[in-house]
Amino acid sequence: MTVGPRRTAPVAPAVVPALPLPAAGWSTDVDAIVVGSGAAGLMTALALAEAGRRVTVVTKGALGDGSTRWAQGGLAAVLGADDDAELHLQDTLTAGAGLCDEAAVATLVTEAPAAIGLLQDLGARLDLDPHGRPALTREGGHSRDRIVHAGGDASGAEVTRTLTEALRSAGIEVLEQTVALEALRGRLGEVVGLRVARVAVDGTLTDAGDLRAHAVVLATGGYGQAYAAATSPAGTTGDGLALALRAGAEVADVEMVQFHPTVLWQGPGATGQQALISEAVRGEGAVLVDGDGRRIMPGAHPLADLAPRDVVSATIAAHLAATGADFVFLDATGLGADFLENRFPGILRACRAAGFDPATEPVPVAPGAHYTCGGVLADLDGRTGVPGLFAVGEVACTGVHGANRLASNSVTEGLVAARRCAAVVDAELPPGAPAEPARTSSFAGGAIDPAARPGVSAATSRYAGVVRTADGLAELTTTLARADRLPAGRPLDLAAVEATAVHTVATLLATAALARPESRGCHRRADAPGPRPEWQVRLAHRIDVSGHLHTRTVPLTAPRTDQKQGVA
Ligand code: SIN
Repeated sequence: MTVGPRRTAPVAPAVVPALPLPAAGWSTDVDAIVVGSGAAGLMTALALAEAGRRVTVVTKGALGDGSTRWAQGGLAAVLGADDDAELHLQDTLTAGAGLCDEAAVATLVTEAPAAIGLLQDLGARLDLDPHGRPALTREGGHSRDRIVHAGGDASGAEVTRTLTEALRSAGIEVLEQTVALEALRGRLGEVVGLRVARVAVDGTLTDAGDLRAHAVVLATGGYGQAYAAATSPAGTTGDGLALALRAGAEVADVEMVQFHPTVLWQGPGATGQQALISEAVRGEGAVLVDGDGRRIMPGAHPLADLAPRDVVSATIAAHLAATGADFVFLDATGLGADFLENRFPGILRACRAAGFDPATEPVPVAPGAHYTCGGVLADLDGRTGVPGLFAVGEVACTGVHGANRLASNSVTEGLVAARRCAAVVDAELPPGAPAEPARTSSFAGGAIDPAARPGVSAATSRYAGVVRTADGLAELTTTLARADRLPAGRPLDLAAVEATAVHTVATLLATAALARPESRGCHRRADAPGPRPEWQVRLAHRIDVSGHLHTRTVPLTAPRTDQKQGVA
């Protein structure tokens, strides 16, 4: 049995183990810090404030700039009369291709309906059915209609509006255009705060200081922008994941990057954030066709166009490889212009702006990096293996998504985990001031030169896409090992922080994808087709003082962290 490395010798290349930090000019104490302002971060901050805690939100852009506001499809929850939690659980486990943590999924599906209710209580204007209940729709991998949406295809925008308004009304302190650089560590290695800095318009860092707290909750989103192109916004560079790794946390399932099947194709050189065409469009009856109008999905899976996302993306990728085409087409013309305009106004606008009209013609689409199932190893309460450090939402890897996330489970997970995490932080918060930081890091500081990032991202797209091979991943590893470091004496700026995070994530991704010689969920190896039973394990990684990765397998039945750890 070839099971992956268990507490192995260091694997090259190394990642940056510590950033060269600007000196702190100030220090402030709060109870808890939340980093990031998508649904998970906003909800965590709100719940902590409700509990009477002093919480500060740190976000590197403007409030609400996270990935949530781009979510089109919606939020999955059991609300229909023909649905039940067991069905939602089974659909999630099936999509997760054998790597889900069933207990975490059970908690998610049980608590999801209350999370939707809470959103409504906070003033979210969901799309309603004629009886005044949330209108439900279907997406890939769901056996029932259970996707709650708002504004047709503007679900994430409405969640963001609701939560940012609530946050402002609660008077929560928000530090916008502020980047979290490194965790402050206490004497025992616990996290006792963050070194942060303001980000000027040109990306230079100013006014660095120490925010000290009993708990730091990372809600920084995913790492889609480690690829040359992704559906997630520009800020999703994996900063939170890299910071957690440098703070001693483990990260897991990093190879499980979900490629959305229907990203509007806008040329081979398209980079940055790409326009998504929601799976809900196929949920309403649109189909994938080739250049001759022949359907692609029947025969590939019993659910055809509504198969789980990994299956649809892999089927399209195989079709593209076989035909030499760059894209297939999504044919939504059967839905009619009026329906499309009412149900998917944002998607219609985006397609038309790019020169395509889904109401009258099939539009070109191809799979694109969309959601990153991997992240900081945590439970659904946000606990990582490091006291004082929590992770919720896409930055966390709770085992809920396994090897492939079920559509529209992400915002739901963010909300559920946020409430649970806030409850734990509140319950365990000790009296008094946070502990004195003993050190920002024991490691020698360094960073990746931003000039190296395009090469790293291009290689990640080329070699760690929908279908991977050992040879390609080895090429990626070589590219990563050669990435230039920031020249000595050049001060750290936002571009270098992000380039370092992208390099860290890509290194983890290449290492994990190379170590997993099978195809499962989002991880497809042309040279190792099909799942292998002995690989029904998760891969978790930590770094040593020189930044070398150490990888271990996490059996699904084992506890997800070495010890349950709470606030510091
Ligand atoms: C979509 O609308 O297709 C995306 C929803 C999701 O990623 O869950």
